[in-house]
Amino acid sequence: MIFENYCILAYNSLLLIDFYSTKVREKELKMDVFYEMFIDLPRQGPGNKKYTIQALSLIKNLTSNPKILDVGCGSGYQTFTLANKLTNCEITSVDNFQPFLDRINQNIVSQNLHDKIKTSNQSMFALDFPEESFDLIWAEGSIYIIGFDRGLKEWSKFLKNNGYIVVSEISYLSKNIPDDVKHFWFREYPTMKTLEENLEIVHRAGYYDVEYFIMGKEGWFNEYYIPLENKINKMKLKYQENKEAMEILNLTQYEIDLYKKYSKYYSYVFYIGRKN
Ligand SMILES: C[S@@+](CC[C@H](N)C(=O)[O-])C[C@H]1O[C@@H](n2cnc3c(N)ncnc32)[C@H](O)[C@@H]1O
Repeated sequence: MIFENYCILAYNSLLLIDFYSTKVREKELKMDVFYEMFIDLPRQGPGNKKYTIQALSLIKNLTSNPKILDVGCGSGYQTFTLANKLTNCEITSVDNFQPFLDRINQNIVSQNLHDKIKTSNQSMFALDFPEESFDLIWAEGSIYIIGFDRGLKEWSKFLKNNGYIVVSEISYLSKNIPDDVKHFWFREYPTMKTLEENLEIVHRAGYYDVEYFIMGKEGWFNEYYIPLENKINKMKLKYQENKEAMEILNLTQYEIDLYKKYSKYYSYVFYIGRKN
């Protein structure tokens, strides 16, 4: 989640006129550290093959050669899971960070998946596709960036009638949230909602046949927090004299420690719906 906040930070920094102010240089340094932390991880947010396939299995009437839009695809972990699971499909993977798309392009070559996957460097805020051109929109851990409500509403126009959307979104699982969790997540993601509130948003955005499931703890650790924690430990040795870098590394470690302690209070939830 910290990852997405830095994406927004990067976007904001581009809007600043005084590019050479100390503040911007500080932000640029933070971005570098931040991307170094994530660039070679298996994925950039919680999830694993089991959950991607579970979400796919909840889609009942997918056409035999679906056109799929994978928004905020990162280095494509879920893209390749989908491409390998579906006999035929045409996936367009969108991200605005080219090094992730480069990783996908290399894997397309090594796995010979040219027919199934292509990449496109675009912003999820201004997707450039014809209306009603996809059977399925997929966004794991990325709809947060545009906003859960806004993403569900705005992206719907790219779906064919009765097309599906699958998104994963961090959600509170209880109304009684411990103070430590509140303090951290109110700052990192002030508009984070409960599972029930998000279900209501999915319905109000015009989707039907809505399904959901909660990601288990192993979905956070095996492919995400464990590799991330290993990376943080390596980077702490490299950046021990760099205050700003250490701040980012410590904050990310804090996010991991918080989830270890309070995993029953929040998790990623997969939401699946069908366009009306
Ligand atoms: C938390 S990562 C999730 C990546 C991947 N779906 C996964 O679960 O491993 C969010 C992704 O959104 C991308 N992103 C950030 N802002 C974006 C934007 N405005 N348009 C498109 N992608 C964006 C980031 O580069 C990053 O790859």
